[in-house]
Amino acid sequence: MNSNDVRARFLAFFESKQHTLVPSAPLVPGNDPTLLFTNAGMVPFKDVFTGQDTRPYTRAASSQKCVRAGGKHNDLENVGYTARHHTFFEMLGNFSFGDYFKADAIPWAWEFITSRDWLGIDPSRLLVTVYHTDDEAYGLWKDTVGVPAERIVRIGDNKGAPYASDNFWTMGETGPCGPCTEIFYDHGDHIPGGPPGSPDEDGDRWIEIWNVVFMQFERHADGRMTPLPAPSVDTGMGLERISALLQGTHDNYRIDSFRLLIEAIAARAGQAPYASASQKVIADHIRATSFLLLDGVLPGNEGRGYVLRRIMRRAIRHGYKLGLNEPFFHALVAPLGEAMGAGYPELVEKRAWLEQTIRAEEDAFATTLDKGMKLLDEAIAGLASGVIPGAVVFKLYDTYGFPVDLTADIARERALTLDLDGYEREMAAQRERARAASSFKAGASLRYEGDATCFVGYESLRADATVVALFRDGEPVPSLQAGEQGIVVLDRTPFYAESGGQVGDAGRIGTFVVDDTQKIKGSVFGHSGRLAEGGLAVGDAVTAEVTDSLRRATMRNHSATHLLHRALRDVLGEHVAQKGSLVDAQRTRFDFSHPSAVTVEEIIEIENRVNRAVLANVEVGARVMGYDDAIASGAMALFGEKYGDEVRVLQMGDFSTELCGGTHVGRTGDIGLFKIVSESGVASGIRRVEAITGENALAHLRGLDDTLRAAADRLRSGREDLIEKIEAQLERAKALEKELAALKGKLAGAASGDLVSQARMVGDVRVIAARVDGVAGNDLRDLQDQLKNKLGSGVVVLGAADGDKVSLIAGVTQDLTRRIKAGDLIKHVATQVGGKGGGRPDMAQAGGTDVAALPAALESVYAYVEGTL
Ligand code: SER
Repeated sequence: MNSNDVRARFLAFFESKQHTLVPSAPLVPGNDPTLLFTNAGMVPFKDVFTGQDTRPYTRAASSQKCVRAGGKHNDLENVGYTARHHTFFEMLGNFSFGDYFKADAIPWAWEFITSRDWLGIDPSRLLVTVYHTDDEAYGLWKDTVGVPAERIVRIGDNKGAPYASDNFWTMGETGPCGPCTEIFYDHGDHIPGGPPGSPDEDGDRWIEIWNVVFMQFERHADGRMTPLPAPSVDTGMGLERISALLQGTHDNYRIDSFRLLIEAIAARAGQAPYASASQKVIADHIRATSFLLLDGVLPGNEGRGYVLRRIMRRAIRHGYKLGLNEPFFHALVAPLGEAMGAGYPELVEKRAWLEQTIRAEEDAFATTLDKGMKLLDEAIAGLASGVIPGAVVFKLYDTYGFPVDLTADIARERALTLDLDGYEREMAAQRERARAASSFKAGASLRYEGDATCFVGYESLRADATVVALFRDGEPVPSLQAGEQGIVVLDRTPFYAESGGQVGDAGRIGTFVVDDTQKIKGSVFGHSGRLAEGGLAVGDAVTAEVTDSLRRATMRNHSATHLLHRALRDVLGEHVAQKGSLVDAQRTRFDFSHPSAVTVEEIIEIENRVNRAVLANVEVGARVMGYDDAIASGAMALFGEKYGDEVRVLQMGDFSTELCGGTHVGRTGDIGLFKIVSESGVASGIRRVEAITGENALAHLRGLDDTLRAAADRLRSGREDLIEKIEAQLERAKALEKELAALKGKLAGAASGDLVSQARMVGDVRVIAARVDGVAGNDLRDLQDQLKNKLGSGVVVLGAADGDKVSLIAGVTQDLTRRIKAGDLIKHVATQVGGKGGGRPDMAQAGGTDVAALPAALESVYAYVEGTL
């Protein structure tokens, strides 16, 4: 029974039990930041189980695309080493949402699997497991279904904590969960492995083919488990595993849909099919790669994108192992389309795009794979122990783009392990270096033992103060001289030190020009910059003055950020959570969680809301209060951010209340015009909006206005009919292009006429060997076709020089291809101009680099033809 039949039978069986058939959802779960990928058939129904969503049905069945790589259910490392693990697979499932429960789910499972009308699997090869306390399921198997007691295994909490068990299924850290019962198939004692619950249960002999989860609880982030609104059922069966069994193999990779892929890979590698585990890895990974790409995941450096990149790079490396040093992975999209295109036509429809995207990743990785492998081989050759040092693992990651699990994969093949602690230490050191480099000129490492700085910058931008410390080149000094760079610490300051996304202030401390302010440690502010003139010594009385225009522009942007945050949540939904922000004098940049691009309409609505709050001109006030009181008053706090007991609550009328230590405008009206200037994605599920305010917004609009005016002037039109004018110009360009193409055709026709008259007879063959500089690409091919047509019977060789490049084409009319092969002829000519090439017997192309040799090379065509007579 092929896998398409298995899928169809499963759905038909449950349709006969009044289930609604539901199509597969995408691999990226909608609006669910807790999960990387759809990793089970129940994922699209998660909210239905918890009662947050309803459907018009209470029974459903589906065949769901799943990916298990990264996150809780991660099979990536196992792929290639077992017969049954995949990153991508299809899961057949039947579901009850508060409808039937154990008493139906268990007998139906058995009926479908064993009845001759359905799968007809031999019951004597089956064994079932139940959660150790689930007497009800045990009783149903034993008494209702009639499974002998010695074939029912109770499995307890075998993973080190209550409910951590093979027979207690949880979707992720949070979500619906419950005890489960599983059906195992015994592939026979010729395959190593023990029954479930035994020490060698991980072998391939006993394979879990069916898992019924009795969904009863919802697990929360704090570990609590609360009952679901109604007991439900979630059944999963891997299509590949069951197909393997029905096709008489224990190895999923030998089923129909995999065989084509394995054969394609083996052929490229010049191996027999199934000659190596790498073939399986690559076959698995091209499926995961293609399906993830089709569902909108692109290879990248974070989140889902990074998981995809890891999968792709692992496959490419396994290709390298098979000797496939040229890009090969993209070429597997075609056989995949053949194997699975019937069920997933987009594999065929989007083939070109898939190939292109995969090829780009292959090319990117190819440049470092080879070097990285050499480095690793050298490191391994010099190893005294069986452990690859953390520094090597880190270098491979950092310089050569080897994801750690890729290095682990290589290590495993050679029976080595990785020093992961060492790798983590290198990584932490790297982070520290990056932080130090990007933040403060040596700020964080300064030695300073004095008091905290008193910040007076909420109220004023100018303050008298005393210099309490000075640093030069990271060392404390008693004074600074004119022209020296350094860091100044004052007893009190109006300068805001960077925090909460708002940049540090710039300004002047006497003649010291401050270009940044950062916290050195705790609440000690360091002003970094350069002493323009005179001298500055510890103990000096100074006047510290923040640059008014910059700070005011920054405050406008910061206050606008709070209104933006509120408006995003109001317009897009409460799932919007701040993921990062940067506020400076130019703009506010705000990153937040949201699954899709923000539409133009949504942007307009967000802008409108912020501008309404600006025009309301409400007072902006700050109060310091206890953290708990602040949260109780409804203030928004950032998830994952650490706050002290005392917090500052920033309130803008009814529009926004947020915990914030930043500096803000006095009234919302001070913000001026608010304008969003860009919206983009920064990582999967994270969007970025950039917005401007006040004078920046005005300047932006003026810029647009200027562009518009310049465009209208160029087109000699008014602004009103600018679009019309542009359209007319585009039309005209199109018409001209058409005309040009027609003219080119005519010219080529005329040229070919000339060339035909130059044809020479060589024996009984008419031969044209001509130089046609300026003709390129398709035109060259067309000209060659025309000439062949005009000759009726003959040989054509054309050469065209462009700079220091030569393009060659050879054509032989069909009647002569037995005697003269265009491919051989072009090779003969191309070698003379420093190139190579080849092609079909009737048409072949080549390139070369030696323009000076072209005339002689063309001339040699006649002798070549003569030689074939
Ligand atoms: N959710 C369960 C599983 O993935 C059953 O569908 O195994």
